[in-house]
Amino acid sequence: MLRIMAIGDITSPAAAEWLASRLWDIRKEHAIDFLLVNAENAGFVMGPSADTAKNLLESGADVVTGGNHTLQNFALHNMLEANSRVLRPINLPAAAPGVGYTVAEAKGYRVLVINAMGRVHMDVPADSPFEAIDKVLKREAGRYDIALLDFHAETTGEKLALGHYLDGRAAAVFGTHTHVPTADLQILPKGTGFVSDLGMCGADGGIMGIKAETVIHRYLTALPARFQAAEGAFFADAVLFEVDEGQNKALSLSRLKIQ
Ligand SMILES: [Fe+2]
Repeated sequence: MLRIMAIGDITSPAAAEWLASRLWDIRKEHAIDFLLVNAENAGFVMGPSADTAKNLLESGADVVTGGNHTLQNFALHNMLEANSRVLRPINLPAAAPGVGYTVAEAKGYRVLVINAMGRVHMDVPADSPFEAIDKVLKREAGRYDIALLDFHAETTGEKLALGHYLDGRAAAVFGTHTHVPTADLQILPKGTGFVSDLGMCGADGGIMGIKAETVIHRYLTALPARFQAAEGAFFADAVLFEVDEGQNKALSLSRLKIQ
């Protein structure tokens, strides 16, 4: 059995630093074999800098995933090209820097991690995640033991559709992007562990990691807002998957809030 933890979207550089300082302890405390972190907002409403991504990898993350804001941080582009442990969504144009999947290792098993992005109510045009993932699974057939997917998308409908589409072909499919943890943890009929959204890592007390006043002002005035990070205590939403590495199936999944 592999114990795999996935942590929701990091919302600021300070939150990334806080999480990095906790990761080895979290791994030890929960006996984690493989750890994924979504960092698409770790540069604050843009992707992490190369330094932040490097810090997360050196501090205990096995793979750092992304989303619609990842490429907005130009300070990450070289690293996306150079380090396959830092992903951007696979269904972006081929000319975009970086890659959308990698094969890493946990306890001697080959772990295929795919990062894809939804197309419903998203601000970045993307190809079909269904087709893009099918291509990877076909191309990498025989080269991995388990498959994991971070699906960065807005709607639960699109996330559930992709979860069911991959049922039996991935050990875990988890959603990111909304920053709100969902309560729909389940093992789908053919064995895929699924949750619509992991949640987030950032400061408490705001709106998805952002100071509430700055978000409300935008709704009241329709003016562009200069967002500021919320100022509460840091926390991280995570989901722990127990996976049967021989079967590429989930055995259980449970939610954790790290404080
Ligand atoms: Fe996002």
